[in-house]
Amino acid sequence: MTEKMMTDPFTFTLKTTDGMARRGQFVAPHGVVQTPAFMPVGTAGTVKGLHPEDVADTGAEIVLGNTYHLMLRPGPERVAALGGLHKFMNWQKPILTDSGGFQVMSLATLRKLTEKAVTFRSHIDGTMFELSPERSIEIQALLGADISMQLDECLKLPAAREEIQRAMALSLRWAERSRRAFEARNATGYALFGIVQGGDDIPLRQESARELIDIGFEGYAIGGLAVGEPQAVMLKVVEETTPVLPAERPRYLMGVGTPHDLLEAVKRGVDMFDCVMPTRNGRHGMAFTRFGSINLSNARHADDPRPLDEASPHPAARTYSRAYLHHLIKANEILGQVLLSTINIAYYQALMAGMRAAIEEGRFADFYAGTMAGWKGGDI
Ligand code: GUN
Repeated sequence: MTEKMMTDPFTFTLKTTDGMARRGQFVAPHGVVQTPAFMPVGTAGTVKGLHPEDVADTGAEIVLGNTYHLMLRPGPERVAALGGLHKFMNWQKPILTDSGGFQVMSLATLRKLTEKAVTFRSHIDGTMFELSPERSIEIQALLGADISMQLDECLKLPAAREEIQRAMALSLRWAERSRRAFEARNATGYALFGIVQGGDDIPLRQESARELIDIGFEGYAIGGLAVGEPQAVMLKVVEETTPVLPAERPRYLMGVGTPHDLLEAVKRGVDMFDCVMPTRNGRHGMAFTRFGSINLSNARHADDPRPLDEASPHPAARTYSRAYLHHLIKANEILGQVLLSTINIAYYQALMAGMRAAIEEGRFADFYAGTMAGWKGGDI
Protein backbone atom coordinates (compact mmCIF):
# COMPACT_ATOMS: atom_id res chain seq x y z
CA MET A 1 0.00 0.00 0.00
CA THR A 2 2.40 2.67 -1.18
CA GLU A 3 -0.38 4.69 -2.77
CA LYS A 4 -3.17 4.79 -0.26
CA MET A 5 -6.36 5.96 -1.91
CA MET A 6 -7.21 9.21 -0.25
CA THR A 7 -9.84 11.76 -0.96
CA ASP A 8 -8.97 14.21 1.81
CA PRO A 9 -6.33 16.74 0.80
CA PHE A 10 -3.25 17.37 2.92
CA THR A 11 -4.35 20.23 5.15
CA PHE A 12 -2.59 22.47 7.62
CA THR A 13 -4.69 24.41 10.11
CA LEU A 14 -3.21 27.30 12.02
CA LYS A 15 -5.09 27.35 15.33
CA THR A 16 -3.50 30.24 17.18
CA THR A 17 -0.43 32.42 17.21
CA ASP A 18 1.45 34.08 20.04
CA GLY A 19 3.85 36.66 18.66
CA MET A 20 5.47 34.83 15.73
CA ALA A 21 5.02 31.43 17.41
CA ARG A 22 2.34 29.25 15.80
CA ARG A 23 0.11 26.47 17.09
CA GLY A 24 -1.34 24.28 14.36
CA GLN A 25 -1.93 20.81 13.06
CA PHE A 26 -1.70 18.99 9.77
CA VAL A 27 -3.66 16.04 8.49
CA ALA A 28 -1.62 13.51 6.51
CA PRO A 29 -2.74 10.14 5.10
CA HIS A 30 -1.47 8.27 8.16
CA GLY A 31 -2.71 10.65 10.82
CA VAL A 32 -2.85 14.05 12.42
CA VAL A 33 0.25 15.87 13.66
CA GLN A 34 0.15 18.67 16.21
CA THR A 35 2.58 21.52 15.60
CA PRO A 36 5.11 22.74 16.55
CA ALA A 37 6.34 19.15 16.08
CA PHE A 38 9.63 17.35 16.47
CA MET A 39 10.28 14.37 14.17
CA PRO A 40 12.70 11.74 15.48
CA VAL A 41 15.10 10.57 12.78
CA GLY A 42 14.52 7.04 11.49
CA THR A 43 17.20 7.14 8.83
CA ALA A 44 17.35 3.52 7.68
CA GLY A 45 13.81 2.48 8.55
CA THR A 46 14.47 2.59 12.29
CA VAL A 47 14.80 5.21 14.98
CA LYS A 48 18.06 3.62 16.07
CA GLY A 49 17.60 1.19 18.92
CA LEU A 50 13.93 1.92 19.59
CA HIS A 51 10.80 -0.16 18.99
CA PRO A 52 8.25 1.89 17.04
CA GLU A 53 5.84 1.53 20.00
CA ASP A 54 8.44 3.14 22.25
CA VAL A 55 8.92 5.99 19.78
CA ALA A 56 5.15 6.58 19.86
CA ASP A 57 5.17 6.43 23.67
CA THR A 58 7.53 9.42 23.75
CA GLY A 59 4.70 11.43 22.16
CA ALA A 60 6.16 11.48 18.63
CA GLU A 61 3.45 11.65 15.95
CA ILE A 62 5.70 11.55 12.88
CA VAL A 63 9.18 10.23 12.07
CA LEU A 64 11.66 11.04 9.34
CA GLY A 65 13.07 8.52 6.86
CA ASN A 66 15.89 8.96 4.38
CA THR A 67 15.75 8.45 0.62
CA TYR A 68 19.53 8.20 0.46
CA HIS A 69 19.95 5.35 2.93
CA LEU A 70 16.91 3.38 1.80
CA MET A 71 17.78 3.68 -1.90
CA LEU A 72 21.17 2.09 -1.18
CA ARG A 73 19.81 -0.54 1.15
CA PRO A 74 17.37 -2.34 1.02
CA GLY A 75 16.20 -0.48 -2.13
CA PRO A 76 12.88 1.36 -2.59
CA GLU A 77 11.43 -1.16 -5.08
CA ARG A 78 11.93 -3.88 -2.47
CA VAL A 79 10.30 -1.78 0.28
CA ALA A 80 7.35 -1.07 -2.06
CA ALA A 81 6.99 -4.77 -2.91
CA LEU A 82 6.88 -5.48 0.82
CA GLY A 83 4.02 -3.03 1.31
CA GLY A 84 5.76 0.32 1.80
CA LEU A 85 7.86 1.84 4.56
CA HIS A 86 5.07 2.13 7.15
CA LYS A 87 4.41 -1.60 6.99
CA PHE A 88 8.10 -2.51 6.60
CA MET A 89 9.14 -0.69 9.79
CA ASN A 90 5.81 -1.16 11.62
CA TRP A 91 5.17 2.57 12.10
CA GLN A 92 1.60 3.43 11.17
CA LYS A 93 1.72 7.17 11.84
CA PRO A 94 2.95 9.76 9.32
CA ILE A 95 6.43 9.60 7.80
CA LEU A 96 8.33 12.45 6.17
CA THR A 97 11.19 11.43 3.93
CA ASP A 98 14.15 13.62 3.08
CA SER A 99 15.01 13.74 -0.61
CA GLY A 100 18.61 12.49 -0.50
CA GLY A 101 20.45 15.62 -1.61
CA PHE A 102 21.77 16.52 1.82
CA GLN A 103 22.94 12.98 2.62
CA VAL A 104 24.64 12.59 -0.77
CA MET A 105 26.64 15.70 0.05
CA SER A 106 27.58 14.57 3.55
CA LEU A 107 28.03 10.80 3.11
CA ALA A 108 28.61 9.70 -0.48
CA THR A 109 31.97 9.80 -2.24
CA LEU A 110 32.86 10.60 -5.85
CA ARG A 111 29.94 12.97 -6.25
CA LYS A 112 29.23 14.59 -9.59
CA LEU A 113 26.54 17.20 -9.79
CA THR A 114 24.99 18.15 -13.13
CA GLU A 115 21.82 19.98 -14.11
CA LYS A 116 20.15 16.63 -14.61
CA ALA A 117 21.11 14.75 -11.44
CA VAL A 118 23.72 13.94 -8.85
CA THR A 119 25.75 10.77 -9.35
CA PHE A 120 27.66 9.30 -6.45
CA ARG A 121 29.32 6.25 -5.01
CA SER A 122 27.56 4.45 -2.16
CA HIS A 123 29.35 4.84 1.18
CA ILE A 124 28.31 1.24 1.93
CA ASP A 125 29.68 -0.80 -0.98
CA GLY A 126 30.97 1.61 -3.61
CA THR A 127 28.12 1.04 -6.11
CA MET A 128 27.38 4.04 -8.36
CA PHE A 129 23.92 5.63 -8.15
CA GLU A 130 22.16 8.47 -9.91
CA LEU A 131 19.64 10.64 -8.10
CA SER A 132 17.57 13.13 -10.10
CA PRO A 133 14.65 15.19 -8.82
CA GLU A 134 12.31 12.79 -10.62
CA ARG A 135 13.95 9.67 -9.21
CA SER A 136 13.89 11.16 -5.70
CA ILE A 137 10.13 11.73 -5.99
CA GLU A 138 9.71 8.21 -7.37
CA ILE A 139 11.67 6.71 -4.46
CA GLN A 140 9.69 8.67 -1.88
CA ALA A 141 6.46 7.47 -3.56
CA LEU A 142 7.70 3.86 -3.47
CA LEU A 143 8.41 4.27 0.23
CA GLY A 144 4.90 5.70 0.69
CA ALA A 145 5.99 8.87 2.50
CA ASP A 146 3.17 11.10 3.74
CA ILE A 147 5.41 14.10 3.13
CA SER A 148 8.11 14.11 0.45
CA MET A 149 10.87 16.67 0.09
CA GLN A 150 12.18 18.14 -3.16
CA LEU A 151 15.73 17.25 -4.18
CA ASP A 152 18.01 20.20 -3.40
CA GLU A 153 21.65 21.11 -3.06
CA CYS A 154 22.72 22.00 0.46
CA LEU A 155 26.09 23.77 0.89
CA LYS A 156 28.25 23.93 3.96
CA LEU A 157 28.88 27.40 5.35
CA PRO A 158 30.85 29.57 4.98
CA ALA A 159 30.57 29.63 1.18
CA ALA A 160 31.15 32.29 -1.49
CA ARG A 161 28.08 34.24 -2.55
CA GLU A 162 28.33 33.07 -6.19
CA GLU A 163 28.40 29.48 -5.00
CA ILE A 164 25.40 30.05 -2.71
CA GLN A 165 23.54 31.71 -5.57
CA ARG A 166 24.34 28.85 -7.97
CA ALA A 167 23.18 26.14 -5.54
CA MET A 168 20.04 28.12 -4.68
CA ALA A 169 19.14 28.56 -8.36
CA LEU A 170 19.77 24.88 -9.10
CA SER A 171 17.61 23.92 -6.12
CA LEU A 172 14.80 26.09 -7.54
CA ARG A 173 15.00 24.40 -10.93
CA TRP A 174 14.99 21.04 -9.15
CA ALA A 175 12.02 22.24 -7.08
CA GLU A 176 10.05 22.82 -10.27
CA ARG A 177 10.97 19.38 -11.67
CA SER A 178 10.15 17.77 -8.30
CA ARG A 179 6.74 19.46 -8.29
CA ARG A 180 5.99 18.28 -11.84
CA ALA A 181 6.99 14.70 -11.00
CA PHE A 182 4.92 14.82 -7.82
CA GLU A 183 1.84 16.18 -9.63
CA ALA A 184 2.08 13.33 -12.13
CA ARG A 185 1.52 10.88 -9.24
CA ASN A 186 -1.87 12.38 -8.51
CA ALA A 187 -1.53 11.43 -4.87
CA THR A 188 -4.29 13.33 -3.08
CA GLY A 189 -3.57 13.76 0.61
CA TYR A 190 0.17 13.35 0.24
CA ALA A 191 2.41 16.41 0.42
CA LEU A 192 5.53 17.77 -1.22
CA PHE A 193 7.56 20.44 0.52
CA GLY A 194 9.90 22.88 -1.22
CA ILE A 195 13.22 23.76 0.42
CA VAL A 196 14.43 27.35 0.80
CA GLN A 197 18.18 27.63 0.20
CA GLY A 198 20.42 30.69 -0.04
CA GLY A 199 23.02 30.18 2.68
CA ASP A 200 23.49 33.16 4.97
CA ASP A 201 22.48 35.66 2.29
CA ILE A 202 19.11 37.14 3.30
CA PRO A 203 18.11 38.54 -0.14
CA LEU A 204 18.89 35.14 -1.72
CA ARG A 205 16.87 33.38 0.98
CA GLN A 206 13.89 35.62 0.36
CA GLU A 207 14.18 35.22 -3.40
CA SER A 208 14.32 31.44 -2.94
CA ALA A 209 11.21 31.52 -0.73
CA ARG A 210 9.24 33.68 -3.18
CA GLU A 211 10.13 31.50 -6.18
CA LEU A 212 9.13 28.36 -4.30
CA ILE A 213 5.80 29.96 -3.38
CA ASP A 214 5.25 30.70 -7.10
CA ILE A 215 5.71 27.00 -7.85
CA GLY A 216 3.41 26.11 -4.95
CA PHE A 217 3.98 23.48 -2.25
CA GLU A 218 1.98 21.99 0.61
CA GLY A 219 4.72 23.15 2.98
CA TYR A 220 8.03 25.00 2.97
CA ALA A 221 11.29 23.92 4.54
CA ILE A 222 14.26 26.04 5.44
CA GLY A 223 17.34 24.02 4.52
CA GLY A 224 21.04 24.72 4.43
CA LEU A 225 21.28 25.65 8.11
CA ALA A 226 23.12 24.09 11.05
CA VAL A 227 25.92 23.49 8.53
CA GLY A 228 28.73 25.29 10.33
CA GLU A 229 27.32 28.79 10.90
CA PRO A 230 26.90 30.36 14.37
CA GLN A 231 23.47 30.03 15.97
CA ALA A 232 22.88 33.78 15.63
CA VAL A 233 23.30 33.53 11.84
CA MET A 234 20.90 30.58 11.66
CA LEU A 235 18.27 32.45 13.70
CA LYS A 236 18.69 35.60 11.62
CA VAL A 237 18.06 33.58 8.43
CA VAL A 238 15.01 31.95 10.03
CA GLU A 239 13.50 35.22 11.22
CA GLU A 240 14.02 36.89 7.85
CA THR A 241 12.58 33.92 5.95
CA THR A 242 9.44 32.94 7.88
CA PRO A 243 7.66 36.29 7.24
CA VAL A 244 7.96 35.66 3.48
CA LEU A 245 6.34 32.21 3.77
CA PRO A 246 2.55 31.79 3.57
CA ALA A 247 0.87 31.68 7.00
CA GLU A 248 -1.42 28.83 5.90
CA ARG A 249 1.39 26.35 5.14
CA PRO A 250 3.68 24.49 7.58
CA ARG A 251 7.31 25.59 7.89
CA TYR A 252 10.01 23.04 8.58
CA LEU A 253 13.54 23.84 9.75
CA MET A 254 15.65 20.91 8.55
CA GLY A 255 18.26 19.16 10.67
CA VAL A 256 17.79 21.42 13.72
CA GLY A 257 18.74 21.22 16.52
CA THR A 258 19.44 21.61 20.24
CA PRO A 259 16.48 22.23 22.56
CA HIS A 260 17.56 25.88 22.64
CA ASP A 261 17.53 26.03 18.81
CA LEU A 262 13.96 24.67 18.81
CA LEU A 263 12.76 27.20 21.37
CA GLU A 264 14.31 30.09 19.39
CA ALA A 265 13.02 28.83 16.04
CA VAL A 266 9.44 28.31 17.27
CA LYS A 267 9.60 31.86 18.61
CA ARG A 268 10.42 32.90 15.01
CA GLY A 269 7.54 31.02 13.41
CA VAL A 270 8.81 27.49 12.65
CA ASP A 271 6.38 24.53 12.90
CA MET A 272 8.47 21.39 12.33
CA PHE A 273 11.93 20.03 13.10
CA ASP A 274 14.04 16.91 12.78
CA CYS A 275 17.45 16.19 14.22
CA VAL A 276 19.67 13.22 15.06
CA MET A 277 20.84 14.97 18.21
CA PRO A 278 18.55 13.34 20.81
CA THR A 279 19.35 9.85 19.53
CA ARG A 280 22.97 10.29 18.41
CA ASN A 281 24.04 12.20 21.51
CA GLY A 282 22.01 9.79 23.64
CA ARG A 283 24.01 6.88 22.25
CA HIS A 284 27.12 8.74 23.37
CA GLY A 285 25.93 9.26 26.93
CA MET A 286 24.34 12.68 26.77
CA ALA A 287 20.93 13.33 28.31
CA PHE A 288 18.76 16.33 27.41
CA THR A 289 16.65 17.46 30.35
CA ARG A 290 14.79 20.51 31.56
CA PHE A 291 17.90 21.22 33.68
CA GLY A 292 20.09 21.34 30.59
CA SER A 293 22.26 18.63 29.06
CA ILE A 294 23.93 16.09 31.30
CA ASN A 295 26.93 14.00 30.30
CA LEU A 296 26.35 10.66 31.97
CA SER A 297 29.78 9.27 31.19
CA ASN A 298 31.18 11.72 33.74
CA ALA A 299 32.42 9.93 36.89
CA ARG A 300 30.52 12.26 39.20
CA HIS A 301 27.29 10.40 38.35
CA ALA A 302 28.68 7.02 39.50
CA ASP A 303 27.09 7.21 42.97
CA ASP A 304 24.08 9.40 42.19
CA PRO A 305 20.81 7.59 43.03
CA ARG A 306 18.57 10.32 41.58
CA PRO A 307 16.67 9.79 38.32
CA LEU A 308 17.30 12.28 35.49
CA ASP A 309 14.01 14.05 36.11
CA GLU A 310 11.55 12.87 38.76
CA ALA A 311 8.82 15.05 37.20
CA SER A 312 9.28 13.86 33.60
CA PRO A 313 6.16 12.63 31.80
CA HIS A 314 8.23 9.65 30.60
CA PRO A 315 8.81 6.73 33.01
CA ALA A 316 12.39 6.06 31.83
CA ALA A 317 13.47 9.53 32.97
CA ARG A 318 11.77 9.01 36.34
CA THR A 319 12.88 5.44 36.99
CA TYR A 320 16.54 4.72 36.32
CA SER A 321 19.18 6.30 38.51
CA ARG A 322 21.92 8.45 37.09
CA ALA A 323 24.35 5.96 38.62
CA TYR A 324 22.78 3.10 36.64
CA LEU A 325 22.73 5.09 33.39
CA HIS A 326 26.38 6.05 34.02
CA HIS A 327 27.25 2.39 34.52
CA LEU A 328 25.44 1.29 31.33
CA ILE A 329 27.19 3.93 29.24
CA LYS A 330 30.63 3.18 30.73
CA ALA A 331 30.07 -0.56 30.16
CA ASN A 332 28.93 0.18 26.60
CA GLU A 333 25.69 -1.68 27.24
CA ILE A 334 23.04 -1.45 24.52
CA LEU A 335 20.38 -0.62 27.11
CA GLY A 336 22.19 2.58 28.06
CA GLN A 337 21.98 3.79 24.46
CA VAL A 338 18.33 2.73 24.20
CA LEU A 339 17.31 4.41 27.48
CA LEU A 340 19.10 7.68 26.72
CA SER A 341 17.70 7.79 23.16
CA THR A 342 14.22 7.24 24.60
CA ILE A 343 14.65 9.77 27.40
CA ASN A 344 16.01 12.38 24.98
CA ILE A 345 13.24 11.99 22.41
CA ALA A 346 10.73 12.11 25.26
CA TYR A 347 12.32 15.35 26.48
CA TYR A 348 12.15 16.87 22.97
CA GLN A 349 8.49 15.84 22.76
CA ALA A 350 7.74 17.30 26.20
CA LEU A 351 9.42 20.54 25.13
CA MET A 352 7.27 20.70 21.99
CA ALA A 353 4.12 19.90 24.00
CA GLY A 354 5.06 22.64 26.46
CA MET A 355 5.51 25.13 23.63
CA ARG A 356 2.20 24.09 22.04
CA ALA A 357 0.28 24.59 25.30
CA ALA A 358 2.03 27.91 25.94
CA ILE A 359 1.18 29.26 22.48
CA GLU A 360 -2.44 28.14 22.88
CA GLU A 361 -2.69 29.94 26.18
CA GLY A 362 -0.86 33.08 25.04
CA ARG A 363 2.04 32.64 27.45
CA PHE A 364 4.88 31.69 25.11
CA ALA A 365 7.12 34.49 26.42
CA ASP A 366 6.77 33.14 29.98
CA PHE A 367 7.39 29.60 28.81
CA TYR A 368 10.48 30.78 26.92
CA ALA A 369 11.87 32.56 30.00
CA GLY A 370 11.08 29.66 32.34
CA THR A 371 12.62 27.08 30.02
CA MET A 372 15.78 29.13 29.54
CA ALA A 373 16.09 29.59 33.30
CA GLY A 374 15.70 25.82 33.83
CA TRP A 375 18.52 25.04 31.39
CA LYS A 376 20.81 27.49 33.23
CA GLY A 377 21.11 24.71 35.81
CA GLY A 378 23.58 23.37 33.23
CA ASP A 379 25.34 20.05 33.63
CA ILE A 380 23.94 19.19 37.05
N1 GUN B 1 18.69 18.23 6.23
C1 GUN B 1 19.29 19.24 6.87
N2 GUN B 1 19.49 20.29 6.04
C2 GUN B 1 18.99 19.92 4.83
C3 GUN B 1 18.91 20.58 3.56
O1 GUN B 1 19.34 21.72 3.36
N3 GUN B 1 18.33 19.86 2.55
C4 GUN B 1 17.86 18.60 2.74
N4 GUN B 1 17.30 17.97 1.69
N5 GUN B 1 17.93 17.98 3.91
C5 GUN B 1 18.49 18.63 4.94
